Amino acid sequence: MSKKVLLLGGAGFIGFNIAKYLSENRDYKITIADNFARGKEDALFTELVNKHKIKVVAGDYTDPGAFEQLDNDYHQVYMLASVVGVDNANSIPHEIIRINTALIYNTLEWIRGSKIGKVLFTSTSECYAGTIDAFGYKVPTAEEVPLCIEDISHPRFTYAVTKMLGESGFLNYSRILGFEATIVRYHNVYGPRMGFKHVIPHLVVRFRKGEQPFKVYGHDQTRAFCYITDAVRGTVLAMEQPNTNGQIYHIGTQEEISIGELIKYAGELMKFDGLYEDAPTYPGSVSRRCPDITKARTQLGFEPEVGWKEGLDKTISWYNSYLEEGNKVYE
Ligand SMILES: NC(=O)c1ccc[n+]([C@@H]2O[C@H](COP(=O)([O-])OP(=O)(O)OC[C@H]3O[C@@H](n4cnc5c(N)ncnc54)[C@H](O)[C@@H]3O)[C@@H](O)[C@H]2O)c1
Repeated sequence: MSKKVLLLGGAGFIGFNIAKYLSENRDYKITIADNFARGKEDALFTELVNKHKIKVVAGDYTDPGAFEQLDNDYHQVYMLASVVGVDNANSIPHEIIRINTALIYNTLEWIRGSKIGKVLFTSTSECYAGTIDAFGYKVPTAEEVPLCIEDISHPRFTYAVTKMLGESGFLNYSRILGFEATIVRYHNVYGPRMGFKHVIPHLVVRFRKGEQPFKVYGHDQTRAFCYITDAVRGTVLAMEQPNTNGQIYHIGTQEEISIGELIKYAGELMKFDGLYEDAPTYPGSVSRRCPDITKARTQLGFEPEVGWKEGLDKTISWYNSYLEEGNKVYE
Protein backbone atom coordinates (compact mmCIF):
# COMPACT_ATOMS: atom_id res chain seq x y z
CA MET A 1 0.00 0.00 0.00
CA SER A 2 1.41 3.40 -0.89
CA LYS A 3 2.00 5.78 1.99
CA LYS A 4 -0.36 8.68 2.72
CA VAL A 5 1.45 11.96 3.24
CA LEU A 6 0.03 15.28 4.43
CA LEU A 7 1.83 18.59 3.91
CA LEU A 8 0.31 21.24 6.18
CA GLY A 9 1.37 24.56 4.65
CA GLY A 10 2.36 22.59 1.54
CA ALA A 11 1.61 25.33 -0.98
CA GLY A 12 4.43 27.52 0.36
CA PHE A 13 8.05 27.68 -0.71
CA ILE A 14 9.49 24.61 1.04
CA GLY A 15 6.26 22.59 1.12
CA PHE A 16 5.71 22.91 -2.62
CA ASN A 17 9.24 21.64 -3.24
CA ILE A 18 8.80 18.71 -0.83
CA ALA A 19 5.57 17.81 -2.64
CA LYS A 20 7.40 18.00 -5.97
CA TYR A 21 10.28 15.83 -4.74
CA LEU A 22 7.99 13.19 -3.23
CA SER A 23 5.78 13.13 -6.35
CA GLU A 24 8.80 12.58 -8.57
CA ASN A 25 10.64 10.09 -6.34
CA ARG A 26 8.04 8.14 -4.37
CA ASP A 27 4.75 6.45 -5.05
CA TYR A 28 2.82 8.23 -2.27
CA LYS A 29 -0.69 9.63 -1.97
CA ILE A 30 -0.05 13.29 -1.24
CA THR A 31 -2.41 15.85 0.29
CA ILE A 32 -1.62 19.55 0.61
CA ALA A 33 -3.49 21.61 3.23
CA ASP A 34 -3.05 25.39 3.06
CA ASN A 35 -5.01 28.63 3.32
CA PHE A 36 -2.98 30.19 0.48
CA ALA A 37 -2.09 33.17 2.67
CA ARG A 38 1.40 32.90 1.17
CA GLY A 39 1.37 29.70 -0.82
CA LYS A 40 0.23 30.56 -4.33
CA GLU A 41 -2.08 28.70 -6.68
CA ASP A 42 0.15 29.76 -9.56
CA ALA A 43 0.78 27.86 -12.80
CA LEU A 44 3.62 25.83 -11.24
CA PHE A 45 1.41 24.76 -8.34
CA THR A 46 -1.54 23.83 -10.58
CA GLU A 47 0.71 21.89 -12.93
CA LEU A 48 2.26 19.88 -10.07
CA VAL A 49 -1.09 19.16 -8.45
CA ASN A 50 -2.72 18.05 -11.71
CA LYS A 51 0.23 16.04 -12.97
CA HIS A 52 0.62 14.01 -9.78
CA LYS A 53 -3.02 13.98 -8.66
CA ILE A 54 -2.21 15.73 -5.40
CA LYS A 55 -5.25 16.41 -3.24
CA VAL A 56 -5.58 20.03 -2.09
CA VAL A 57 -7.62 20.82 1.00
CA ALA A 58 -7.94 24.59 1.35
CA GLY A 59 -8.76 25.98 4.75
CA ASP A 60 -7.62 28.17 7.59
CA TYR A 61 -6.12 25.67 10.00
CA THR A 62 -6.14 28.12 12.89
CA ASP A 63 -9.76 26.90 13.00
CA PRO A 64 -9.82 23.40 14.54
CA GLY A 65 -12.89 22.66 12.39
CA ALA A 66 -10.72 22.84 9.24
CA PHE A 67 -9.03 19.58 10.28
CA GLU A 68 -12.34 17.75 9.86
CA GLN A 69 -11.76 17.93 6.08
CA LEU A 70 -8.63 15.78 6.43
CA ASP A 71 -8.28 12.01 6.72
CA ASN A 72 -7.10 10.67 10.07
CA ASP A 73 -4.60 8.03 8.99
CA TYR A 74 -1.58 9.69 7.37
CA HIS A 75 1.73 7.82 7.61
CA GLN A 76 3.67 11.07 7.42
CA VAL A 77 2.72 14.67 8.26
CA TYR A 78 5.04 17.54 7.35
CA MET A 79 4.04 20.51 9.52
CA LEU A 80 5.16 23.60 7.61
CA ALA A 81 2.17 25.94 8.11
CA SER A 82 3.26 29.14 9.80
CA VAL A 83 3.44 32.89 9.35
CA VAL A 84 7.09 33.64 8.61
CA GLY A 85 9.43 36.56 7.99
CA VAL A 86 11.06 39.36 9.95
CA ASP A 87 8.77 42.00 8.39
CA ASN A 88 5.67 40.15 9.59
CA ALA A 89 7.16 39.64 13.04
CA ASN A 90 7.93 43.34 13.34
CA SER A 91 4.60 44.58 11.99
CA ILE A 92 2.07 41.95 13.20
CA PRO A 93 3.72 40.19 16.18
CA HIS A 94 0.30 39.53 17.77
CA GLU A 95 -0.79 37.68 14.62
CA ILE A 96 2.42 35.64 14.59
CA ILE A 97 1.62 34.56 18.16
CA ARG A 98 -2.06 33.87 17.44
CA ILE A 99 -1.70 32.08 14.10
CA ASN A 100 1.44 30.04 14.75
CA THR A 101 0.32 28.97 18.21
CA ALA A 102 -3.15 27.97 16.93
CA LEU A 103 -1.63 26.02 14.02
CA ILE A 104 0.67 24.10 16.37
CA TYR A 105 -1.95 23.45 19.05
CA ASN A 106 -4.69 22.45 16.57
CA THR A 107 -2.35 20.06 14.78
CA LEU A 108 -1.33 18.43 18.06
CA GLU A 109 -4.92 18.04 19.23
CA TRP A 110 -6.01 16.71 15.82
CA ILE A 111 -3.27 14.08 16.08
CA ARG A 112 -4.63 13.06 19.48
CA GLY A 113 -7.83 11.87 17.79
CA SER A 114 -6.11 10.41 14.67
CA LYS A 115 -3.78 7.58 13.70
CA ILE A 116 -0.73 9.48 12.50
CA GLY A 117 2.57 7.63 12.05
CA LYS A 118 5.12 10.42 12.15
CA VAL A 119 5.24 14.22 12.16
CA LEU A 120 8.09 16.43 11.07
CA PHE A 121 7.93 19.94 12.54
CA THR A 122 9.80 22.72 10.74
CA SER A 123 11.66 25.01 13.11
CA THR A 124 14.32 27.64 12.69
CA SER A 125 17.83 28.72 13.60
CA GLU A 126 16.15 31.84 15.10
CA CYS A 127 15.44 29.68 18.19
CA TYR A 128 19.08 29.89 19.21
CA ALA A 129 19.89 33.30 17.72
CA GLY A 130 20.15 34.86 21.18
CA THR A 131 22.35 32.10 22.54
CA ILE A 132 25.25 32.87 20.24
CA ASP A 133 25.44 36.60 20.91
CA ALA A 134 24.55 36.49 24.64
CA PHE A 135 26.62 33.48 25.73
CA GLY A 136 29.23 33.10 23.02
CA TYR A 137 28.34 29.55 21.96
CA LYS A 138 30.29 28.08 19.08
CA VAL A 139 29.59 28.84 15.41
CA PRO A 140 29.03 26.53 13.46
CA THR A 141 26.31 25.62 15.95
CA ALA A 142 25.04 22.14 16.78
CA GLU A 143 21.56 21.03 17.83
CA GLU A 144 22.14 20.68 21.57
CA VAL A 145 22.81 24.40 22.10
CA PRO A 146 20.33 25.95 24.60
CA LEU A 147 17.54 27.93 22.94
CA CYS A 148 17.40 31.60 23.82
CA ILE A 149 16.11 34.95 22.63
CA GLU A 150 17.68 38.15 23.83
CA ASP A 151 14.68 40.42 24.39
CA ILE A 152 11.30 38.87 25.23
CA SER A 153 9.43 42.12 24.49
CA HIS A 154 10.89 42.66 21.01
CA PRO A 155 8.36 41.83 18.25
CA ARG A 156 11.02 40.23 16.07
CA PHE A 157 11.34 37.33 18.50
CA THR A 158 7.64 36.32 18.52
CA TYR A 159 8.39 34.00 15.59
CA ALA A 160 11.18 32.19 17.46
CA VAL A 161 9.02 31.92 20.58
CA THR A 162 6.29 30.12 18.59
CA LYS A 163 8.86 27.78 17.04
CA MET A 164 10.20 26.90 20.51
CA LEU A 165 6.62 26.06 21.49
CA GLY A 166 6.35 23.84 18.40
CA GLU A 167 9.59 21.97 19.13
CA SER A 168 8.58 21.32 22.71
CA GLY A 169 4.95 20.56 21.75
CA PHE A 170 5.69 17.97 19.09
CA LEU A 171 8.46 16.24 21.03
CA ASN A 172 6.39 15.98 24.21
CA TYR A 173 2.95 15.16 22.74
CA SER A 174 4.60 12.46 20.62
CA ARG A 175 6.10 10.74 23.66
CA ILE A 176 2.82 10.80 25.57
CA LEU A 177 0.46 10.01 22.69
CA GLY A 178 2.68 7.46 20.96
CA PHE A 179 3.35 8.93 17.52
CA GLU A 180 6.81 9.71 16.14
CA ALA A 181 8.14 13.26 15.82
CA THR A 182 11.25 14.80 14.32
CA ILE A 183 12.30 18.45 14.20
CA VAL A 184 14.31 20.16 11.50
CA ARG A 185 15.75 23.63 12.07
CA TYR A 186 16.23 25.32 8.71
CA HIS A 187 19.07 27.74 8.12
CA ASN A 188 18.46 30.37 5.40
CA VAL A 189 16.80 28.23 2.74
CA TYR A 190 16.47 29.95 -0.63
CA GLY A 191 15.63 29.25 -4.26
CA PRO A 192 13.07 30.00 -6.98
CA ARG A 193 9.43 30.74 -6.04
CA MET A 194 10.20 31.85 -2.50
CA GLY A 195 8.16 35.07 -2.70
CA PHE A 196 9.80 38.49 -2.54
CA LYS A 197 10.28 38.99 1.20
CA HIS A 198 13.51 37.03 1.46
CA VAL A 199 16.89 38.70 1.09
CA ILE A 200 17.79 37.27 -2.35
CA PRO A 201 14.63 38.15 -4.34
CA HIS A 202 14.65 41.50 -2.56
CA LEU A 203 18.16 42.09 -3.89
CA VAL A 204 17.04 41.27 -7.44
CA VAL A 205 14.24 43.84 -7.18
CA ARG A 206 16.59 46.50 -5.79
CA PHE A 207 19.23 45.91 -8.47
CA ARG A 208 16.56 46.06 -11.17
CA LYS A 209 15.35 49.42 -9.77
CA GLY A 210 18.87 50.78 -10.24
CA GLU A 211 19.64 51.64 -6.59
CA GLN A 212 22.82 53.73 -6.53
CA PRO A 213 24.96 53.60 -4.43
CA PHE A 214 23.77 50.11 -3.55
CA LYS A 215 23.31 49.81 0.23
CA VAL A 216 24.89 46.72 1.77
CA TYR A 217 22.86 46.28 4.98
CA GLY A 218 24.71 44.16 7.57
CA HIS A 219 27.71 43.77 5.23
CA ASP A 220 29.95 41.97 7.76
CA GLN A 221 27.30 39.63 9.16
CA THR A 222 27.67 36.03 8.09
CA ARG A 223 25.13 33.42 7.03
CA ALA A 224 25.20 29.99 5.38
CA PHE A 225 22.61 29.79 2.59
CA CYS A 226 21.01 26.44 1.79
CA TYR A 227 19.61 25.83 -1.69
CA ILE A 228 16.06 24.51 -1.74
CA THR A 229 16.80 21.11 -3.31
CA ASP A 230 19.32 20.39 -0.54
CA ALA A 231 16.87 21.50 2.16
CA VAL A 232 14.20 19.23 0.68
CA ARG A 233 16.49 16.18 0.61
CA GLY A 234 17.55 16.83 4.21
CA THR A 235 13.92 17.17 5.30
CA VAL A 236 12.77 13.96 3.59
CA LEU A 237 15.77 12.09 5.04
CA ALA A 238 14.85 13.36 8.53
CA MET A 239 11.31 12.05 7.99
CA GLU A 240 12.29 8.73 6.45
CA GLN A 241 15.58 7.52 7.92
CA PRO A 242 15.20 5.05 10.81
CA ASN A 243 15.90 6.14 14.39
CA THR A 244 15.05 9.81 13.87
CA ASN A 245 12.12 9.79 16.30
CA GLY A 246 12.61 12.44 18.99
CA GLN A 247 15.60 13.94 17.19
CA ILE A 248 16.37 17.51 16.09
CA TYR A 249 18.44 18.16 12.96
CA HIS A 250 20.11 21.33 11.73
CA ILE A 251 19.44 21.48 8.00
CA GLY A 252 21.62 23.87 6.05
CA THR A 253 25.16 24.14 4.75
CA GLN A 254 28.46 25.06 6.38
CA GLU A 255 29.50 27.47 3.62
CA GLU A 256 29.54 30.56 5.84
CA ILE A 257 29.76 33.78 3.81
CA SER A 258 29.37 37.46 4.62
CA ILE A 259 26.33 39.41 3.44
CA GLY A 260 28.83 41.70 1.66
CA GLU A 261 30.13 38.73 -0.38
CA LEU A 262 26.61 37.58 -1.17
CA ILE A 263 25.50 41.03 -2.35
CA LYS A 264 28.60 41.66 -4.44
CA TYR A 265 28.29 38.32 -6.22
CA ALA A 266 24.57 38.99 -6.76
CA GLY A 267 25.63 42.37 -8.20
CA GLU A 268 28.00 40.62 -10.65
CA LEU A 269 25.17 38.32 -11.77
CA MET A 270 22.91 41.37 -12.18
CA LYS A 271 25.69 43.14 -14.20
CA PHE A 272 25.81 45.99 -11.66
CA ASP A 273 28.88 48.19 -12.09
CA GLY A 274 28.04 51.01 -9.67
CA LEU A 275 29.16 51.74 -6.12
CA TYR A 276 28.34 49.90 -2.90
CA GLU A 277 27.83 51.55 0.49
CA ASP A 278 27.94 49.65 3.80
CA ALA A 279 24.87 50.16 6.02
CA PRO A 280 23.60 48.88 9.39
CA THR A 281 21.11 46.02 9.67
CA TYR A 282 17.85 45.13 11.46
CA PRO A 283 18.05 45.32 15.26
CA GLY A 284 18.16 41.80 16.74
CA SER A 285 19.84 40.31 13.67
CA VAL A 286 22.70 38.02 14.77
CA SER A 287 26.25 38.78 13.64
CA ARG A 288 27.09 35.16 12.72
CA ARG A 289 24.97 32.18 11.82
CA CYS A 290 26.10 28.84 10.49
CA PRO A 291 24.81 25.38 11.41
CA ASP A 292 26.98 22.47 12.42
CA ILE A 293 25.44 19.74 10.24
CA THR A 294 27.56 16.84 11.54
CA LYS A 295 24.50 15.14 13.08
CA ALA A 296 22.52 15.31 9.80
CA ARG A 297 25.59 14.08 7.91
CA THR A 298 26.25 11.12 10.16
CA GLN A 299 22.71 10.08 11.12
CA LEU A 300 20.83 10.94 7.92
CA GLY A 301 23.54 10.69 5.27
CA PHE A 302 22.71 14.32 4.35
CA GLU A 303 25.23 16.14 2.19
CA PRO A 304 24.45 19.53 0.59
CA GLU A 305 25.21 19.47 -3.13
CA VAL A 306 24.59 22.99 -4.42
CA GLY A 307 27.28 25.57 -3.62
CA TRP A 308 26.14 29.12 -2.80
CA LYS A 309 27.34 30.66 -6.06
CA GLU A 310 25.58 28.02 -8.16
CA GLY A 311 22.39 28.35 -6.11
CA LEU A 312 22.48 32.13 -6.26
CA ASP A 313 22.93 32.03 -10.03
CA LYS A 314 19.93 29.69 -10.45
CA THR A 315 17.76 31.76 -8.13
CA ILE A 316 18.63 35.13 -9.64
CA SER A 317 18.09 33.79 -13.18
CA TRP A 318 14.67 32.47 -12.16
CA TYR A 319 13.63 35.82 -10.64
CA ASN A 320 14.90 37.81 -13.62
CA SER A 321 12.94 35.60 -16.04
CA TYR A 322 9.88 35.77 -13.80
CA LEU A 323 9.90 39.57 -13.81
CA GLU A 324 10.85 39.85 -17.49
CA GLU A 325 7.81 37.72 -18.38
CA GLY A 326 5.70 40.56 -16.95
CA ASN A 327 4.90 38.96 -13.58
CA LYS A 328 4.59 41.31 -10.63
CA VAL A 329 6.43 41.43 -7.32
CA TYR A 330 4.17 39.92 -4.65
CA GLU A 331 4.29 39.55 -0.86
N1 LIG B 1 12.56 29.36 4.31
C1 LIG B 1 13.40 29.31 5.34
O1 LIG B 1 14.60 29.63 5.21
C2 LIG B 1 12.94 28.83 6.68
C3 LIG B 1 13.82 28.99 7.77
C4 LIG B 1 13.42 28.53 9.01
C5 LIG B 1 12.18 27.92 9.18
N2 LIG B 1 11.33 27.80 8.13
C6 LIG B 1 10.03 27.17 8.40
O2 LIG B 1 9.70 26.24 7.37
C7 LIG B 1 8.29 26.26 7.11
C8 LIG B 1 8.07 26.52 5.63
O3 LIG B 1 8.68 27.77 5.30
P1 LIG B 1 8.50 28.45 3.89
O4 LIG B 1 9.71 29.24 3.62
O5 LIG B 1 8.02 27.44 2.91
O6 LIG B 1 7.32 29.48 4.24
P2 LIG B 1 5.98 29.83 3.42
O7 LIG B 1 5.40 31.05 4.02
O8 LIG B 1 6.27 29.84 1.96
O9 LIG B 1 5.05 28.56 3.73
C9 LIG B 1 4.19 28.51 4.84
C10 LIG B 1 2.83 28.07 4.33
O10 LIG B 1 1.91 28.05 5.44
C11 LIG B 1 0.66 28.50 4.95
N3 LIG B 1 -0.19 28.97 6.04
C12 LIG B 1 -0.01 30.08 6.81
N4 LIG B 1 -1.04 30.23 7.65
C13 LIG B 1 -1.87 29.19 7.44
C14 LIG B 1 -3.15 28.82 7.99
N5 LIG B 1 -3.73 29.56 8.93
N6 LIG B 1 -3.74 27.69 7.53
C15 LIG B 1 -3.14 26.94 6.55
N7 LIG B 1 -1.95 27.26 5.97
C16 LIG B 1 -1.35 28.38 6.43
C17 LIG B 1 1.01 29.62 3.97
O11 LIG B 1 -0.03 29.95 3.05
C18 LIG B 1 2.24 29.03 3.28
O12 LIG B 1 1.87 28.33 2.11
C19 LIG B 1 7.70 27.35 8.00
O13 LIG B 1 7.12 26.75 9.13
C20 LIG B 1 8.90 28.19 8.39
O14 LIG B 1 8.72 28.79 9.63
C21 LIG B 1 11.68 28.25 6.89
